Amino acid sequence: MPDMLVKLYNLDHNWDFIADQKTAGVTIRKPIGPEKHSFLNWISANFSGGWAAEADVAFTNKPRSCFLAVEASVIAGFACYDATALGYFGPIGVATAYQGMGIGKSLLKACLLDMKLKGYGYAIIGDVKEPEFYQKTVEAIPIPDSTPGIYENPIKSSDPAE
Ligand SMILES: CC(C)(COP(=O)(O)OP(=O)(O)OC[C@H]1O[C@@H](n2cnc3c(N)ncnc32)[C@H](O)[C@@H]1OP(=O)(O)O)[C@@H](O)C(=O)NCCC(=O)NCCS
Repeated sequence: MPDMLVKLYNLDHNWDFIADQKTAGVTIRKPIGPEKHSFLNWISANFSGGWAAEADVAFTNKPRSCFLAVEASVIAGFACYDATALGYFGPIGVATAYQGMGIGKSLLKACLLDMKLKGYGYAIIGDVKEPEFYQKTVEAIPIPDSTPGIYENPIKSSDPAE
């Protein structure tokens, strides 16, 4: 799938989605140090080792470039940026039981607004698997001739989890 581009300068500095999710019992925030292993293990178990590796990069960035969604100490979803490569959004994942509740959109916006505050003008969404989600939520547009983009000739892994 092609990469997509988001015009961060068109995004309103509106963080109301955090309060809206809080009302529904879901906290959107950055993970803290002692949560690192639980955070990465959850991503590996629910999505893939490759996504956990990218989340590890985001977790290690200073400042941290990832968010999670938590309900009653249970992780519902996560999202990262500056993980695949600088200026890239992703990966993002919401547990199946929590999908369709606005959590994915909230995690996406938290990352994109954080990027905007950091000074980025655009965000790239790499190797998009759900283009309608990004088009609908943040008016992302496909980037022509972006396949395979930076994903060309990846190192082969011997780990079946990846
Ligand atoms: C894609 C994903 C992150 C969306 O998270 P979610 O919490 O279910 O999405 P939300 O509830 O925040 O949806 C926000 C809006 O996008 C729409 N939407 C969600 N997923 C969509 C999809 N796959 N295609 C089109 N629209 C979608 C919703 O209908 C909603 O619209 P509304 O605001 O009009 O009600 C989630 O389905 C997921 O984790 N999928 C598996 C991992 C994955 O594919 N990640 C993306 C890789 S590029």
